[in-house]
Amino acid sequence: MIKIAPSILSADFTRLGEEINSVRSADRLHFDVMDGMFVNNISIGLPVLESVREANAAFRHADMTLEAHLMIASPARYTARFAEAGADIVIFHVEAETAENTLRALEELRGLDKKTGLSIKPDTPAEALSPYIGVIDIALVMTVEPGFGGQSFIAAMLPKISALRGVIDGQGLLCEIGVDGGINPETAKLCVGAGADVLVAGSCVFGSPDRAARIKELRAARA
Ligand code: DX5
Ligand code: ZN
Repeated sequence: MIKIAPSILSADFTRLGEEINSVRSADRLHFDVMDGMFVNNISIGLPVLESVREANAAFRHADMTLEAHLMIASPARYTARFAEAGADIVIFHVEAETAENTLRALEELRGLDKKTGLSIKPDTPAEALSPYIGVIDIALVMTVEPGFGGQSFIAAMLPKISALRGVIDGQGLLCEIGVDGGINPETAKLCVGAGADVLVAGSCVFGSPDRAARIKELRAARA
């Protein structure tokens, strides 16, 4: 079953509670954190995540998993803080941390009973995840340069998704593959065909007048 994770980066922040309610048929809520250092943009952080956790809890029937995508420099400084603020899954960038800090942060998150993920930018090869693929819950492949919503999907990322699928299946691992950036019903099909399990979608979901229909359409993506 394909999982859909709307990115609230494209939501109307003046009506965030209603916006979250409008996507409650999704599986996860994707929360993009940017620091103006690792990426050339600044978005939202810990206090907003706490509010989102409250808003999400208000829709108990939905109970979406909250995933934080940290696009920040030296993320190990903050991974536990985002877990404590309400993220169920904490994803950070492999390019932004040393191997030692990455392993320590992943272990710390597991100790907090959280799921873990590592993300790679378009120029980073799949092999960068090799030391961690056996211990993380999700590998998030950026299909645009991180930093902004509404960019065009980079089709050259498809072989990277397939390669990761091969490694994960070959080793019998449970790690999911997520894709993030430029996802719409057409690119969703390509990603699912290449082996993606989780589709992060911002502008395509929040730009649609019928979000439930759009989520359904994305979930039905087949190659
Ligand atoms: C980009 C973020 C994405 C973004 C996706 O740096 O990580 O999660 O919100 O937005 P769309 O789906 O509009 O490309
Ligand atoms: Zn993201």
